[in-house]
Order: sequence, then structure tokens, then C-alpha cells
Amino acid sequence: MPRTGDTPEFGDSDFVVVANRLPIDIERLPDGTTAWKRSPGGLVTALEPLLRRRRGAWVGWPGAAAKPGEPAPDPIDLDDLRLQPVRLTAEDIAEYYEGFSNATLWPLYHDVIVKPVYQRQWWDRYVDVNRRFAEATAEAASAGATVWVQDYQLQLVPKMLRELRPDLTIGFFLHIPFPPVELFMQLPWRAEIVDGLLGADLVGFHLPGDAQNFLFLAKKLVGAPISRGTVGVRNRCGEVRLADRTVRVGAFPISIDSGSLDRTARARDIRRRAKQIRAELGHPRKILLGVDRLDYTKGIDVRLLAFNELLDEGRVKPDDTVLVQLATPSRERVESYQILRDEIEREVGHINGEYGEVGHPVVHYLHRPIPRNELLAFFVAADIMLVTPLRDGMNLVAKEYVACRSDLGGALVLSEFTGAAAELHQAYLVNPHDLDGVKDAIEAAAGQTPEEGRRRMRALRRQVLTHDVDRWARSFLDALAGTHAA
Ligand code: ADP
Ligand code: F6P
Repeated sequence: MPRTGDTPEFGDSDFVVVANRLPIDIERLPDGTTAWKRSPGGLVTALEPLLRRRRGAWVGWPGAAAKPGEPAPDPIDLDDLRLQPVRLTAEDIAEYYEGFSNATLWPLYHDVIVKPVYQRQWWDRYVDVNRRFAEATAEAASAGATVWVQDYQLQLVPKMLRELRPDLTIGFFLHIPFPPVELFMQLPWRAEIVDGLLGADLVGFHLPGDAQNFLFLAKKLVGAPISRGTVGVRNRCGEVRLADRTVRVGAFPISIDSGSLDRTARARDIRRRAKQIRAELGHPRKILLGVDRLDYTKGIDVRLLAFNELLDEGRVKPDDTVLVQLATPSRERVESYQILRDEIEREVGHINGEYGEVGHPVVHYLHRPIPRNELLAFFVAADIMLVTPLRDGMNLVAKEYVACRSDLGGALVLSEFTGAAAELHQAYLVNPHDLDGVKDAIEAAAGQTPEEGRRRMRALRRQVLTHDVDRWARSFLDALAGTHAA
């Protein structure tokens, strides 16, 4: 939307978020009509409430393939949010999203749990799509606006956008881990990625360790002088000095809208539904719960193996314990995700074949997104929340569970390899590679006294309720504003 007057080519949004996905996905129905649904993942969970409050614009992909020749969709005004769709064709989705983003970068940044695929054609498409995101953002942002670029799919956007619009203040936040140097150096386009990120005024990560990895790589690959740890400035881990400006680098652990979740989960209908879930599961003594995108980083296989061995060893009784695994479909055309799904479903079948009864499975597995309030009722019902990723930038599910437990009930088993573990010390922390350790933690959580459970949950809740998504956003955006004040 051009503005009239002295800056006709600029848009009218003072604050713009740019992310691969819009917060809602467009769905093409069999009859040719379209419908909208909430898009998956933690990024949307974190940013959507925030952006509504700021009345900003959100630039992103609406989740479906554009038909060839279809014109760019018009912006959509959704309450206080302006959505600016970026059109992706089937080829873009195959090469930029499924290919470079999710078969190259995702496994590389998650400790190469599966082998990253390096394909030049995918890289070319990544460059091309990043350029289109940068152009759409340049059109939406008003003169001097603040733009906040999100996540690994768009690492070239900061530099491209700065070239198009030097008047903007540009922040970048990575929602996944940033890998150690010896892994990142595998990437044939490593210098281009670091250079792309350095287009921002502020580059943010979840943890100081991620920021340190980035600083080291900026020095090694771009040859820029760096300094670490500016004393007295919270969240700031260092700076990269370029010829004409300085890029700040910091750690900003993301969170959830914990106050709102706490309030919603206290509602009578959610409590009632939680009781009903327990009854539907046959009134077990213990309900174990996993809630994830079906992703190989999440360690769903780890918790199933641990549960199976606990049953084998008689440490868990199949007649009084159930495991519920809610797995939302994810990246279903990427081969490693197809393999994972087969493995998980085989293991669920194996456990139920060994220990289930007719009408009483021990593992309840749903492969679909669960409506938000239903999910909260599961959190309220669960005695033990299993969060066992092999690697996870943060993991918002762990924080959501804690926010929903105003009754101080339940226990959280949490992988040390999540960003959340740096904050949630009173969880039962586990190394997901140590199956015996995971089994012991599940057993300890199942056997905790009510006093011990309350003590741990009270401390967990103090952390989650005082460190919410607003605080995260404020600390990032204040630091971003400070880059121009300095
Ligand atoms: P990621 O961003 O990798 O998906 P997070 O744990 O940070 O992981 O965020 C996942 C988000 O998706 C959370 O808000 C969680 O409640 C939601 N979610 C995960 N699994 C499901 C599911 N089966 N149904 C509905 N929502 C889900
Ligand atoms: O940060 C994790 C992330 O990749 C987000 O960028 C994204 O919103 C979420 O997971 C879900 O993944 P996808 O958009 O590939 O379905």
C-alpha cells in the first residue's frame, strides 16, 4: 500500500514481522473453496499474540502452493493484524522449504541427527525466495520502520533488505539452535549465510552458546573484528564490527503467553474436560503425555523405547499407566520425516501388541493437530509430561505444560538438550541418549511425593510466569532500538 507524499514507494507499517509462515494457513478444500487454520509450530505460538497487540504487519507464506500464473494475493486485514502473503509455487516449496530449509539447514543446525543434503539447486531457490521475502517486506514497511526477521528459512533477508531499504532498523531472531563451528563449516554456502545475517542491526539467539558460535564464525568467515560480552548490558553477548556499522549479537530465550495460558487452563470447562479425558482413558493411576510436531529432533522414539523397557521390566504396570502421544503432522514430503513416522507407528503398534488389551491400548497415538483448548485439557490431565528432544532451540511445550498447572500437580521430564532446560532446573532433567537415565527419571517422576511435586512445580511456574513472551519481545526490541541510540 503506497503512502502518498514524500515516500510514495514505501508501505505504511511501522512494525513488520517477516517469517516463513503466516500465523494462519490457507487450505484448499476438495470443492475448490478455501479455509484458514492456525499454522503449526512454536514461532507462531510466540509471536501471534504479540503482533496483535502491536498492530503490526506480518509478511509470510500462507501455506499452500500458488497456482502457476496466479497473481500475488492482496494483504488480508485480520482484526489488528495485517497479513502480507508471499506466493510460493510448488517448485519453491520443494526446493526452498522442503529442500534447503528442512533437508539441509534443519538437520545441520540440529546436530546432524540425520544427514544434511547439500544441493546447489536448492541453494539457488533459497536465495531467490529470500529475495522475494525481502522485496515484499520492503513494500510493506514505512519509512524508518522496524523489521523483525524470523528463523532459519530467511537468513539472507537481513542483508537483502538492508540493500533495498537502508532506512530500516532490522532485527533477526533464530528460533532453532545455531550449530558449533565444526558442523556449520560443512555448509558450502556458510559465508553467504553469515553475511546475510550480518545485514541485521541485532542478531538474536535463544542461548549465549549459540551467540558465541555465531560470533566465532563471523570472525572466521567474514574476517570481521568481534568483541564478546559487553559488560553491564543484559542479553548482549558481543558485537561484530563491519566497515560502516556494528552488529549486536545477543541471547534472548523465547517464551509463551504464560499469563493467558494460566488463566485459560483454570477455566471450569478445561478442568471438566481434563477429568473426562482421564475417565476416557480408563482412570489410569498415571497419564504420561508427549505433545510435539512429528519431528526426529523431538525424541518421540526415545520416550517410546523408555516406556517399552519400563513395561518389559515390570517397573510400570500396563493396567494402571497410559502414554498419550499427540503428534501433529509436519513436513510430510521430506523423506526423513516419512521414515520417522513409520518408525514411531511401528513402535506404538509393538507396545500395544505386547501390553494392550482389547479396548485398552497402553499407548494412545494421534497423528493430527489438536484444538488449543483440548490440548490444554491434556496438559491439565497429564501426571508426567515427557519432553525428550535430542536437540531443540527452546521447546515451548515444556513451558505450556508448566503454565497450565496452577494446581501444582504433575511432573516435567525434560531433555538437557533443549533451550528450556537452561531455565527449568526443577524439571526431571535427562540426557535423551541415556535410555536408563530417561527410565529412571520417568520412574522418579511417577513416584514423587505430592510435596516434592508441588515444590518443583511451584519453582517451575515462578520462572515461566515471570519470563513470558512479552518480556522476551520487549528485551529483543529494546535492544534493537538501542542499536540506533548507541
Ligand atoms: P516447534 O517450534 O519445533 O514445533 P515448540 O515446542 O517450541 O516446537 O512449539 C510447538 C507448538 O506447537 C506449541 O505451541 C505446541 O502447543 C504446539 N503443538 C505441538 N504439538 C501439537 C499437537 N499435536 N496439536 C496441536 N498443537 C501442537
Ligand atoms: O522454529 C521452528 C519452526 O521451524 C518454525 O520456524 C516453524 O514455525 C515451526 O517450526 C513449524 O515448522 P514448519 O513451518 O516447517 O511446519
